[in-house]
Amino acid sequence: MSDRKPPPEPPLPRGPEVTRRDLLTGRVAGLMLDRLQGEEPEALPAPPLIRLTVNRVSRELRVPAHRTLAEALRVNLGLTGTKIGCDHGECGACTVLLDGLPVYSCLTLAHDADGRSVETIEGLASSDALHPLQQAFLTYDAFQCGFCTPGMIMALKALLDRRGTPDAEEVRQAVSGNLCRCGNYLHVIAAGLAAARSLGDGG
Ligand code: FES
Ligand code: FES
Repeated sequence: MSDRKPPPEPPLPRGPEVTRRDLLTGRVAGLMLDRLQGEEPEALPAPPLIRLTVNRVSRELRVPAHRTLAEALRVNLGLTGTKIGCDHGECGACTVLLDGLPVYSCLTLAHDADGRSVETIEGLASSDALHPLQQAFLTYDAFQCGFCTPGMIMALKALLDRRGTPDAEEVRQAVSGNLCRCGNYLHVIAAGLAAARSLGDGG
């Protein structure tokens, strides 16, 4: 066995001016700011362009790749009728129609809607009349706070567009992905059936 000891480790390099006290007192943040202020900020690239047809109108917008359709509608286009409740695909408040089918817009990326047709609650009423679903929600007291209402109506519109005279079970199924914290479900179903009758009679 050799008596030779390994050579001592070289001391760890230390930053010349940063001490633990600097970290605690925030001086490090100041040093970083000083450095950043001396540098030219890098120009950010423009977000990519997408084209959508929203409520029958062609729209072009630049949105970051991670932006949801719900945020793009509300923030980029100002269409705040589409509500964001849970933002996790659980409540249905954000339901819109994408190429005629109901989707949770909080779970749909805006870029996935590129080149497609989007319908929101703002697209339902004509200049002088409510859509029969909107009228039926009024007539049948189908909302209280109203937060779930745009999503409920869009889910029901998808049903009525493809099946003119649904029965109560089909109406229940259509809104089964939409939660109403005010518990107004019976009125919603009555309104859905009434709107179907109204559309069947010629609207
Ligand atoms: S906000 Fe989209 S499902 Fe709740
Ligand atoms: S009316 Fe309030 S959440 Fe449905």
